[in-house]
Amino acid sequence: MKALTYQGANDVRLDNVPDPLLLADDDLILRVTATAICGSDLHLYRGKVPGLMEGDVLGHEFMGVVEEVGPAVDAVSVGDRVVVPFTISCGDCFFCEKAEYAACEATNPGPTLLVNGKHLRPGAGMFGYTHAYGGYAGGQAEYVRVPKANVGPLKIPDVLADEQVLFLSDILPTGYQAVVDAGVGPGSTVAIFGAGPVGCMAAECARMLGASRVFMIDHHAYRLAYAERAYGAETFNFDEVDDPAREIVAATQDRGVDCAVDAVGFEAKGSALETMLTSLKLESASGHAFRQAIAATRRAGTVSVPGVYAGFIHGFLLGDVFDKGLTLRFGQTHVQRHMPYLLDCIGNGKLKPDALITHRMRLGQAVEAYRIFDQRLEDCRKVILTP
Ligand SMILES: NC(=O)c1ccc[n+]([C@@H]2O[C@H](COP(=O)([O-])OP(=O)(O)OC[C@H]3O[C@@H](n4cnc5c(N)ncnc54)[C@H](O)[C@@H]3O)[C@@H](O)[C@H]2O)c1
Ligand SMILES: [Zn+2]
Ligand SMILES: [Zn+2]
Repeated sequence: MKALTYQGANDVRLDNVPDPLLLADDDLILRVTATAICGSDLHLYRGKVPGLMEGDVLGHEFMGVVEEVGPAVDAVSVGDRVVVPFTISCGDCFFCEKAEYAACEATNPGPTLLVNGKHLRPGAGMFGYTHAYGGYAGGQAEYVRVPKANVGPLKIPDVLADEQVLFLSDILPTGYQAVVDAGVGPGSTVAIFGAGPVGCMAAECARMLGASRVFMIDHHAYRLAYAERAYGAETFNFDEVDDPAREIVAATQDRGVDCAVDAVGFEAKGSALETMLTSLKLESASGHAFRQAIAATRRAGTVSVPGVYAGFIHGFLLGDVFDKGLTLRFGQTHVQRHMPYLLDCIGNGKLKPDALITHRMRLGQAVEAYRIFDQRLEDCRKVILTP
């Protein structure tokens, strides 16, 4: 079959690879009908995350039709149309029983990226996300093996098109969990750092939950213009405004917003010093967006961080977090927990995540699609690929 494979930093290729096989009784084989490229894939593409091997198949946002099931699969049948969550979770371990699916302790034989782990059990495996997270082949391919098929794949009613539901695999639940963790409710004010796909899904969900003001910060004018149009966001371009957090505090009676979402993560731009320190490996991550999020948030507020971090940051203002009495929330999304509710929201028209899509391309054009999304060409917000 054809699949998009990692070959090295900034080098992905469309390859012929062996078709996936059922390996466990509760596996299924999915014929992929739509798949997307995520900001998380860009961290891999740019060679910023260790643990990939040449030839690994990428992709963790995908859906399709069930082609084959193992003998223990009873939640779905051959021919069903399903969306697959990026987190692979067993459904009955200590964490899955608490619906903390991203912490599942039964699906990741890899070491994760913890620095000070003390032999802690690894969290969930993920599709197409390095051998640190299980080395599972991803779904930017014609077919993919889906383990734990009784727990992840969500059946989709025929009335909904692939484009409408594909983002249930990751960015929609991720944006939703980010604002729920942030405590967004009717009347809330929220600042969202990063107007990429995750920031946009957070904004859409914040509006659904009744947020009264949504601030968004980025440096791509076309992304900010979309955020203004689509979510009525008040925007700041950090290439033009020196200190967006200062502007947000000023716009909220010198208090700050109730909550902030860091939908940027460790590759944040805007601090020349941190860009230099990270390239010298004296710093694992840029803390620029995270510091801005802390600074923009009012006392006793919450900062919620779906953006990916790894390793350490020196410039972490722990004293400010204490002085302001902030709550911090982090982590991978417990995708399975949110999928059924969000599917309902799409079905009844409260959410229209497909409005984000700017590029519809074939899997055969995946190499070009990565380049376009990575370089922010052609006003790209989100690419979907069809095999
Ligand atoms: N927690 C999870 O489960 C989960 C799931 C999906 C994605 N993610 C992560 O969320 C982050 C965003 O993903 P995406 O798909 O939207 O990626 P993206 O790369 O398309 O968007 C990130 C945006 O942040 C902007 N940005 C960079 N520096 C900034 C700064 N200092 N302040 C404000 N904006 C800044 C960029 O210009 C870009 O538009 C990534 O780190 C991704 O890995 C996490
Ligand atoms: Zn993703
Ligand atoms: Zn589990």
